[in-house]
Amino acid sequence: MDYPGNLFVVSAPSGAGKSTLVKALLELDSQAHRSISHTTRAPRGQEKHGREYFFASEQEFDAMVAGNAFVEWANVHGNRYGTSKKAIEERISQGADIVLEIDFQGALQIKQAFANAVLVFILPPSWEELRSRLERRGEDSAEVIERRLRNAAHEMAQVEKFDFVIINEMFERALFDLKAIVHAQRLKYAAQRRARASTFESLNIT
Ligand SMILES: Nc1ncnc2c1ncn2[C@@H]1O[C@H](COP(=O)(O)OP(=O)(O)OP(=O)(O)O)[C@@H](O)[C@H]1O
Ligand SMILES: [Mg+2]
Repeated sequence: MDYPGNLFVVSAPSGAGKSTLVKALLELDSQAHRSISHTTRAPRGQEKHGREYFFASEQEFDAMVAGNAFVEWANVHGNRYGTSKKAIEERISQGADIVLEIDFQGALQIKQAFANAVLVFILPPSWEELRSRLERRGEDSAEVIERRLRNAAHEMAQVEKFDFVIINEMFERALFDLKAIVHAQRLKYAAQRRARASTFESLNIT
């Protein structure tokens, strides 16, 4: 199924910089929006239903799982998070470009549900730099950092299944690369045909 909006899926091992890159992209690009997940966890602070998350009760979440409503879902520290197929479909069918940050398994499941999804993998420039980013970020214990690094080898081995690869060495360069991927999708024939219909018409292209 061809939708007027694009679905971009960004994966990377922990610490490679996906959240930082996606945040910078979304600040620059008003046409691109973050995908909104469903979660069973309670709203925190100023979080609003339908903005940060769709908040669901355990029963509502169960019913969605049973009804195959999620492209993928996972249990993280006792709370469940899921990506609703319908929520994405609605937004890309209205022409929005949606960006989803997710682990590689989730990314491959998204590709099964949305064949036109654009899969982007972010690599760190080296193991040393990946480790030092996790250390400098200062969010995780030494033990958690070791676990993240152990998982990274297996995660990075999945890069061949992705459409695009960005090596996040110089941040500005990596952001440029991500913007280029997004921009290139918008220049595809079908997208231009929709976005610039009147130009095609005035050029008598039928
Ligand atoms: N190009 C870069 N050069 C130096 N530091 C960077 C670069 N890109 C990101 N960082 C830093 O590296 C750290 C990890 O980045 P970030 O939190 O975005 O990673 P992530 O891929 O989202 O990890 P996680 O999967 O754990 O959420 C952050 O402190 C961020 O500021
Ligand atoms: Mg992150």
